[in-house]
Amino acid sequence: MKKILITGGAGFIGSHVIRLFVNKYPDYHIYNLDKLTYAGNLSNLTDIENKSNYTFIKGDITDEKFITELFTTISFDSVIHLAAESHVDRSILQPMEFINTNILGTAILLNAAKAIWKETQTAKNVFYHISTDEVFGSLGQEGFFTEETPYDPRSPYSASKAGSDHLVRAYHHTYDLPVIISNCSNNYGPNQFPEKLIPLMIHHIKNNKPLPVYGKGENIRDWLYVIDHARAIDTIFHHGTHGETYNIGGINEWKNIDLIYLLCNIMDKKLNRPDGTSAELITFVKDRAGHDMRYAIDPGKLQKTLGWSPSLQFEEGLSLTVDWYLENEGWLNEVTSGNYLKYYDQQYNKR
Ligand code: NAD
Ligand code: TYD
Repeated sequence: MKKILITGGAGFIGSHVIRLFVNKYPDYHIYNLDKLTYAGNLSNLTDIENKSNYTFIKGDITDEKFITELFTTISFDSVIHLAAESHVDRSILQPMEFINTNILGTAILLNAAKAIWKETQTAKNVFYHISTDEVFGSLGQEGFFTEETPYDPRSPYSASKAGSDHLVRAYHHTYDLPVIISNCSNNYGPNQFPEKLIPLMIHHIKNNKPLPVYGKGENIRDWLYVIDHARAIDTIFHHGTHGETYNIGGINEWKNIDLIYLLCNIMDKKLNRPDGTSAELITFVKDRAGHDMRYAIDPGKLQKTLGWSPSLQFEEGLSLTVDWYLENEGWLNEVTSGNYLKYYDQQYNKR
């Protein structure tokens, strides 16, 4: 049985990847390693937690002794690495957590994989790093990020992900470690922690709270439904070429303010409110420091070489996402019940 370690599997994207792999590959044993930070919730995985090919391990990727022992004990065949601090606003407030988890944590995992695969490396082994398009920096009105775009990260978050990408590539060139990297655009969908734009807006619209739009709301993001990202990860993990990078994106660019109006319209209908009610909550607030203007991915390499393409239209994905949040009030209350939001409130004064 192939033993696959997935890190960060209790988080937003990781939980969808775990579900896909556990259900689709009964011949693999999937190990989910997660520290369960504020962003990791085992309730994301209740439907698969009792499957015989699934094991949860609570642990910290920055704990070198623990990680080294874990790899020696279980001898994983492959690693799909998603564990990270992932929110740009938090990285502006607390950069060291990002540097520790994203850079040091990745280095510790690379060393552990290198140590166990050194003697016995086979075609089954791969260290697959899940990264972001934010490593490429900020685009103007024209152009797209390709796999050849030079790295130009601008936030502590994107700089820490760029640092981890560089380490992954360096371990391939220096030690011949079999690695793959993918850089994906903004994800949305069920189970996303309500500090990121789409779930935060859904949460606030539902509760009639102000909708904080940074700056003029003119920044552009390229949105992809999380299950399409999980499908891309499955494709790249199984068919990608070692040493290569793949860009993943939805070819779906939206100005923040247009997206927020669309969401307000969808929610007015679903909540039986008169048209225009939710949009009255829109509030322009101070811009994010160093706010990247535009991200847009050219996913041509992945489409042409591995045949992946997004399956959902944005309006359909957004509607499914809104339905999920409206139907899962218990989840929303559970994940927002700690004191991390209080701390966050004080900084941004937006809730
Ligand atoms: P998330 O914040 O929802 O989840 C991160 C998970 O990592 C959580 O379960 C958390 O408990 C775990 N974690 C954090 N620190 C850890 C540590 N030290 N040890 C073990 N586990 C730890 O993040 P996400 O949005 O699901 O993103 C997952 C990955 O995908 C990240 O690497 C992120 O950079 C990347 N990514 C995210 C997006 C996006 O739009 N969300 C887009 C492209 C790439
Ligand atoms: P976010 O979901 O934090 O993703 P990222 O910054 O990694 O792209 O933010 C998406 C966009 O929405 C970004 O341009 C910042 C903006 N934004 C707001 O205007 N208000 C908010 O409350 C949040 C969280 C984000």
